[in-house]
Amino acid sequence: MSDQETLIKNLGQTWPMPSKTNPVIIIGTGGIVKDAHLPAYKKAGFNVLGMFDIDKEKADLLAKEYEIDKVFSTFEEAFENKDCIFDLALPPANLLEVVEKLPEDIYAIFQKPLGRSLEEGNKIRKICHQKNIKACMNFQLRFSPIALPVYEAIQKNLLGELVELEVHVNVHTPWELWPFLKTLDRVEVPLHSIHYIDWIRSVLGNPKSLYCQSVKHPKVKDLADCRTSAIFNYGEHIRCCMTINHTHSFGRKNQDAYIRLEGTKGAAKMTLGLLLDYPNGEPEELEIITENTDWIKLDIKGKWFPDAFIGVMSNMQRFKNGEDDKLITSIDDSIDTMAVVDSCGLSSQSGGLKIDYAD
Ligand SMILES: NC(=O)c1ccc[n+]([C@@H]2O[C@H](COP(=O)([O-])OP(=O)(O)OC[C@H]3O[C@@H](n4cnc5c(N)ncnc54)[C@H](O)[C@@H]3O)[C@@H](O)[C@H]2O)c1
Repeated sequence: MSDQETLIKNLGQTWPMPSKTNPVIIIGTGGIVKDAHLPAYKKAGFNVLGMFDIDKEKADLLAKEYEIDKVFSTFEEAFENKDCIFDLALPPANLLEVVEKLPEDIYAIFQKPLGRSLEEGNKIRKICHQKNIKACMNFQLRFSPIALPVYEAIQKNLLGELVELEVHVNVHTPWELWPFLKTLDRVEVPLHSIHYIDWIRSVLGNPKSLYCQSVKHPKVKDLADCRTSAIFNYGEHIRCCMTINHTHSFGRKNQDAYIRLEGTKGAAKMTLGLLLDYPNGEPEELEIITENTDWIKLDIKGKWFPDAFIGVMSNMQRFKNGEDDKLITSIDDSIDTMAVVDSCGLSSQSGGLKIDYAD
């Protein structure tokens, strides 16, 4: 095996763990906490001290399943121990009102999106600054075992100048599992593709402008939209786009979910196995090719769900301990993801450039 092959095979897949862990308190104990937060924290050995949900029965059931001692009866009680890390997993419509009630000087992780709009996101960010709340968002794709090696490959200049980034998703997503989506004006980008936009920003920086269209599907009548095409303008040397269809109900055969990144010296292809054959999922895959190698398939240990959630929490824990100098998905960085999401909605609404057809 050449040195470069060895280097690629050994690219890091996990975020470093904290030297000491602070207890965690979870606010909102719905689907994502059950499916990802709690399995991740159990796997990593993070101590969940207690949980709170306005639906106490739900919190009680989950606490029993994960042997968590404390289910708080009131919001105020949950925040008595300010030294914990507070992990908020609430529907977007409830986030602002909850952040308004948060105590000062705490560490908090918020679920995406940061409110229902950029306006709400800006309000949430402002409150966090005023109250000295050190907050980040759960953009866990950045910490997934297939994404971390890609950043390292870029840092080590294995891919050269980046010129091409495409997110391609053609799957069946059971939107009916999330009833709160029905109330939203925009769904696909703020709730799903927001992850890709955040990831794209983490690799290429902020786009200068964008073109976007999100559309409905006749079989998904209750949602404002469920499919998206978008192009992000990074100037004349980079092509960056997303094509996202959640309504491919024709079996596994032609489903696809990948991110392809190409540079002048190499390329990477990440397969988002979680999205394939839902809810079973398939393994996450990462292949990298460079000038000096053929395509190399890395031996990926772990998945976007739940493993990547360990990374977000590790970064927050280490930041609180003074071991990481910054929160990778800090609220100040994430607000730019919200800005791109907001522009996607506006672009879609604008209807694009009118075409001057012959009479
Ligand atoms: N990062 C990801 O990949 C990912 C995946 C799925 C969902 N999410 C996000 O997580 C959030 C929650 O999604 P979900 O699927 O768990 O939703 P859910 O509806 O299953 O759960 C939300 C929970 O919040 C509780 N809640 C509402 N208001 C509350 C309040 N004021 N105080 C305490 N609890 C309150 C509800 O009772 C419910 O149990 C959403 O913002 C969603 O976008 C993120």
